[in-house]
Amino acid sequence: MSESYSFTVNGVLRTTQEDKPLLRYLREDLHLTSVKDGCSEGACGTCTIVVDGKAVRSCILTTKKAVGKTILTVEGLSYDEQEAFVYAFGSVGAVQCGFCIPGMVMAGKALIDLNPNPSEGEIKKAIRGNVCRCTGYKKIIEGISLAAAILRGDEKIDPALEGGDRYQVGDRAFRTDVREKVLGTGEYCDDVEMEGMVHGSAIRSQYPRARILNIDASEALAMPGVLAVLTADDVPHNKVGHLQQDWDVFIAKGAITRCVGDAICMVVAENEDILRDAKKLVKIDYEPLEPVRTIQEAMAENAPLVHSKGNLCQQRHVTRGDAKTALANSKYVVTQRYQTPFTEHAFLEPECAVAFPYKDGVKVYTSDQGVYDTRKEISIMLGWEPERIVVENKLVGGGFGGKEDVSVQHLAVLAALKVNRPVKVKLTRQESINFHPKRHYMEGTFTLGCDENGIFTGLDCEIYFDTGAYASLCGPVLERACTHSVGPYCYQNTDIRGFGYYTNNPPAGAFRGFGVCQSEFALESNINLLAEKVGISPWEIRYRNAIEPGKVLPNGQIADCSTALKETLLAVKDVYEANMDHAGIACAMKNSGVGVGLPDKGRAKVIIRDGKVELYSAASDIGQGCFTVFVQVMAQTLGLPKEKLKCMGANSELAPDSGTTSGSRQTLITGEAVRMVCEDVKKDLDAAGGDLTQLEGKEYFAEFFDPTDKLGADVPNPKSHIAYGFATHVVILDDEGKVKEVWAAHDSGKVVNPISIQGQIEGGVLMGLGYALTEKFTLKDCVPQVKFGTLGLMRADQIPDIHAIYVEKEELLPFAYGAKGIGEIATIPTAPAVQGAYYARDHILRTSLPMEDTFYNKKK
Ligand code: FES
Repeated sequence: MSESYSFTVNGVLRTTQEDKPLLRYLREDLHLTSVKDGCSEGACGTCTIVVDGKAVRSCILTTKKAVGKTILTVEGLSYDEQEAFVYAFGSVGAVQCGFCIPGMVMAGKALIDLNPNPSEGEIKKAIRGNVCRCTGYKKIIEGISLAAAILRGDEKIDPALEGGDRYQVGDRAFRTDVREKVLGTGEYCDDVEMEGMVHGSAIRSQYPRARILNIDASEALAMPGVLAVLTADDVPHNKVGHLQQDWDVFIAKGAITRCVGDAICMVVAENEDILRDAKKLVKIDYEPLEPVRTIQEAMAENAPLVHSKGNLCQQRHVTRGDAKTALANSKYVVTQRYQTPFTEHAFLEPECAVAFPYKDGVKVYTSDQGVYDTRKEISIMLGWEPERIVVENKLVGGGFGGKEDVSVQHLAVLAALKVNRPVKVKLTRQESINFHPKRHYMEGTFTLGCDENGIFTGLDCEIYFDTGAYASLCGPVLERACTHSVGPYCYQNTDIRGFGYYTNNPPAGAFRGFGVCQSEFALESNINLLAEKVGISPWEIRYRNAIEPGKVLPNGQIADCSTALKETLLAVKDVYEANMDHAGIACAMKNSGVGVGLPDKGRAKVIIRDGKVELYSAASDIGQGCFTVFVQVMAQTLGLPKEKLKCMGANSELAPDSGTTSGSRQTLITGEAVRMVCEDVKKDLDAAGGDLTQLEGKEYFAEFFDPTDKLGADVPNPKSHIAYGFATHVVILDDEGKVKEVWAAHDSGKVVNPISIQGQIEGGVLMGLGYALTEKFTLKDCVPQVKFGTLGLMRADQIPDIHAIYVEKEELLPFAYGAKGIGEIATIPTAPAVQGAYYARDHILRTSLPMEDTFYNKKK
């Protein structure tokens, strides 16, 4: 007789015969979807539950070990507790992508039960095992503190806040998705369950470079419950790729792998247990080959070719004026070489997709940054008309650029078409780490010159990117690294050469900052050295050169009326100058919108249905909060209360293409399309005397497009992007060399939602601190040596005081109420500001990241 295991879950006695991780039992058997699977290895905290009063990670507890215990999940909290957490997290802005949030709630619940009035330090300690990649923790700590106060009776819930009394542009709006994310009722892809759904998973290369000699799936295919094993022979066109289709869906027999994690074949089975066992039965014979490990190896004569066309994937040359002469005539010149690492996005939700046959084609539920891009990649792979493929976003548990390429969506589609059933394909955390595209590793040499007053004269630089096994977004990322290597300053002589090389390392692609984190680190570090030569402060040299409205950027674009870099510098001047011997400062600019002559369009459709205004726009909300922004724009334009407004989510069948969530573009570009479509609705609404019911069934559509000039356009002042955001960060160290405070002043135009923008700044700064100080993506012979728990992600008890400041000018751009993007720029100036702070403290120039010989990374 088999053993049985009994325990209480949310007040109900449960018994099971299966000994398995409690995480799986709670999700699969009890359908408690608040318990999230972020890593299944005890490192992320998304599956935190309360067991006998203590916060515990449910992935490391088993049903057997849980016998006799009392288990609580978010679903089992009392009504008062649930309401307290929903209100507290919503009103302080603690929720972004939401994937970490139920785990944070349970860690908070365990703490509050023991200590109803916890201090900030006690809350930080209680959630130090829970990683949040979006928020920078500050608002989560405030949220737990406020929830405790509500539960003690010291604070009250204001129902009007969530109800939407304050929902105009500029209001501290309560995000539209807070309730479902706090309570775990919102659906992420891994929460999807469908009648007859089966599971697929690829068998992936352990070798970065090896020839596939043979694939023998006969034993796996003979196993009961195995439905199919797909190989390259099952794929109509065996390539995908966001811009360049260079990524093999499966490495065919006889072909050569390009990185660890390359898919060789995929098993489809009735359930995950059979799938796991069947994968072990597939025999693959490899001939391991010497990999291409570095840019230098890739450039070497007779280097093995990672792709048949050669190892140079992309190159750019951005030039204006005469840098050579300008530098030769400069009073001071600094030349320095810099190196920045691969970085892992570490979004909390691993990649997952569910596909199923649909109408005359296929439908796929995804977690990605652009449903139309995913549709395009799948249509190329299948050789189908795109319309036969429908892509719909579920909630997206973070992206930061790492969910622009297809990862699992195309595999789920192939499997669903093969077995004619719904198929879920989900990456393990290690699969995700091993091969989704990273931030590019960079080596670069930067030469910057200035005159005797510190006025910049010219820049010459050469940037080398390791783009790993596949192009992903190498072209545009390299281009942004080049175009932004000049910084937000006013000088005219530049010569910038960029090269992206294939290697057998994991691929690199988009990551918050889009190449600019790398080049701005180098430029801003050089600026400090020039300031020293001139004999002026790092603040002063930046202020003297700062771009301002009407002046010309190094790319030739005339800065628009909204440009407020100088205002951000002034906002941090006092705090910087009061701490100069242990503080660093850095500026940045970042495009908002894709620009460079591309058809970067925002589209929005409205249907008046059941007395409500339904907005359809295929923009992905990956946690940054663009859906809430759109509803605020609707409320502002229409003058209607939030309860009359609905944002319907990204679905390629129902919503018009509004481009990828990339390039800090959604608030501005889609936000303007939303404003435009609502203007049309408003005209009809006014004509109907404000009676929405009279518009029932009507449809409206708007498209926003403000053209830009392509790179190198032969015009005196090319308009590269429709907008730029600007920022200045100041980092202050304490006596031990630990980061004590960060002051982050941002110009993002009109602030649509102050708490959202603060959250973006705080989260971006913490990501920048990790990049500067703690995050490592170690490789050995092209094989990642890291797990989620060893990535060096900053924890709640490591955070400094982050002061988010936004400056708003009177003069704004005429789009989206003057809003500009904030998503990426928040991460860019932090690392060079940290570098400047250490330089001020000990005069050692740290030219590579993560920096060595700091409080976080002491010299051995
Ligand atoms: Fe915490 Fe996204 S909100 S990981």
